Amino acid sequence: MKLKTLAAVVVAAGMISSAAKAGPEVEVLHWWTAGGEAAAIKVLVDDFKSHGGKWTDMPVAGGGGDAARTALKARVLSGNAPTAFQMKGPSIQEWHEEGALTVGIDAVAKSENWDASLPAAIANHMKCEGKYCAAPVNVHRIDWIWANPKVLAKAGVAMPTTWDEFNAAADKLKSMGITPLAHGGQAWQDATVFEAVALGVGGNAFYKKAFVDLDPATLSGATMQKVFDQMRKMRGYVDANFSGRDWNLATTMVMNGEAAFQIMGDWAKGEFTNAGKVAGKDYLCAPTPGNGYLYNVDSFAMFNVKGADKIDGQNLLAKLIMGKNFQKVFNLAKGSIPARVDVPLNEFDYCARRSAYDMDVTSGNGGLLPSYAHGMAMRNAQAGAITDVVTKHFNSNMSSADAAKALAQGVKNSM
Ligand code: GAL
Repeated sequence: MKLKTLAAVVVAAGMISSAAKAGPEVEVLHWWTAGGEAAAIKVLVDDFKSHGGKWTDMPVAGGGGDAARTALKARVLSGNAPTAFQMKGPSIQEWHEEGALTVGIDAVAKSENWDASLPAAIANHMKCEGKYCAAPVNVHRIDWIWANPKVLAKAGVAMPTTWDEFNAAADKLKSMGITPLAHGGQAWQDATVFEAVALGVGGNAFYKKAFVDLDPATLSGATMQKVFDQMRKMRGYVDANFSGRDWNLATTMVMNGEAAFQIMGDWAKGEFTNAGKVAGKDYLCAPTPGNGYLYNVDSFAMFNVKGADKIDGQNLLAKLIMGKNFQKVFNLAKGSIPARVDVPLNEFDYCARRSAYDMDVTSGNGGLLPSYAHGMAMRNAQAGAITDVVTKHFNSNMSSADAAKALAQGVKNSM
């Protein structure tokens, strides 16, 4: 055999053997590093591996995902996109407009009939020009209040159903030397509390006008000033060491009885669950005062990557994520409810069932609204402009009138 021919045979053999070796492969960038979050993503990793996949984990710590999004940008700009990234609502469209996403998983979505098992609103978020480019794992509710029942009993206060009741309970707790509100002073946590307050104080129509329509008069108006008045009260209910604290440490304060309440999305429940705590016994949950429901859907968006093994990996990942059993087990750990509408909730606790019930009711009366603080309501630039004002107000003596004015101005400048 001539040398050249031999070389060709060797190369071809190498190709065959490496093709035979290659299997589905993903590199997944995410920020699920707190106890409950890590337990939840482990469900996905294990499922993926048990189906013969190779999982490369790229966790970037930081609640709410700001640091992970910065890491993603750097990766994509340097031409080294991950296979999948945990992403939300409008930013899926933003990345699609940049040409960074693939709709390769649409074939899986069609053959598994995703359209039939997802609420239309969620399905639409997952699509890039009509084709699936992301797969949803859950629905998190944001407007929750978590409480330690022993602490409430000690102070003789009940779970509040109005903001006046919340303030009265918090004043009582404070007078007894108990921290009313466990909070971590990070911008996204301030925003999380702010949007729950806005929904309750302003009502559903107000929330929509302000944070979905970005109506300037609503952003700067009298109702927004009332929202900031309540935020000023909230500032008085946190402890002296709140600045910079991670959200899961705030949850631990409620768990340990160091604080009475936390206002946080139901990933906080993932922390309670991970610590072996039982809803209704060790901790309480209730929607923050109001009549709406702020939703936040976690999903994995698929990036344009080369190589059959990675494309196989995206398809396998998409298929597993939408599996009925996966959606149950994952969400039991994560604190959220399944994105699929056909997963029975009999193994879920009363918080999850309340979430599913309220989601159903509010989807019929205009109260089902996207979370601005968690990237569901508007583009990043506008959300960032709002959060800047919220955080500045929370950490200064800024008046409510000035804050409302700055809110409208900030949004305008960011357009
Ligand atoms: C949210 C995300 C949740 C949870 C939380 C705290 O934005 O949707 O899944 O992880 O951040 O990190």
